[in-house]
Amino acid sequence: MFEILEKERIGPGVNRAVIFAPEIARAHKPGQFIILRTHADGERIPLTIADKDADKGTITLVWQEVGVTTYYMGTMCVGDKLQDLCGPLGKPTHIEKFGTVVGIGGGIGVAPLFPITKGMHDAGNHVITIVGARTEGLLIMTEDMRKVSDELLIATDDGSFGIHGFVTQVLQSLIDKGTKIDLCVAIGPVPMMRAVVKVTKAANLPTVVSLNPIMVDGTGMCGACRVEVGGKTMFGCVDGPEFDGHEVDFELLMKRLAMYKGPELIALNKFRE
Ligand code: FES
Repeated sequence: MFEILEKERIGPGVNRAVIFAPEIARAHKPGQFIILRTHADGERIPLTIADKDADKGTITLVWQEVGVTTYYMGTMCVGDKLQDLCGPLGKPTHIEKFGTVVGIGGGIGVAPLFPITKGMHDAGNHVITIVGARTEGLLIMTEDMRKVSDELLIATDDGSFGIHGFVTQVLQSLIDKGTKIDLCVAIGPVPMMRAVVKVTKAANLPTVVSLNPIMVDGTGMCGACRVEVGGKTMFGCVDGPEFDGHEVDFELLMKRLAMYKGPELIALNKFRE
């Protein structure tokens, strides 16, 4: 069992919890994720580790309430325990000194981008981070990001905070200004990652995206997390979650993510009754 040591709401329907999980904290590398169950007959859901403290034996999870399990986790309190945590899973981010790395995080995607940004910064890269959300109240972890970025650019779709516009427009203006960019890392909603890739493809900039396909076992056994990359079928859990953004079939990913929307909504409505 894995105890919740801290828990706070950091945005509308967005929670952050620090969990005692010493083995995972010790082994975790940026880009990796866990699969958890809140109780013995609960569903298994993947969440990227947003931070860790190996000395204290803790990991930090940040999640948005979108389905039964994430809503249920929103009701859990300090002292409550998660039934099980499996991880760290997935391939770690390839981190080295590339030069200038631009990290682009949209919405809840800022949380998984944080350890990658930190890792890239620690490796000596010049890190420019672009954080975006629909509106000011939905921006998360901007101060955390500021600490691990050489430049932080914040954008909101409605202009309520920072630059008025999409993260893609901010990225485009960096490119137009002639900023030398060696690598882009984009994490966020699938349409956002697809839009970023459109911009970086045109500018011929290598781009890594972190995908969030439906997962069950997280160990390459069930095939639920199939994604098409470069015309080949890959498993998000063991081959990813990060892939070359220029090669990802985002249309197929969106179709697969929508497959269980109906039953998920029915289950959520039942849970909230
Ligand atoms: Fe089952 Fe990836 S989640 S193979």
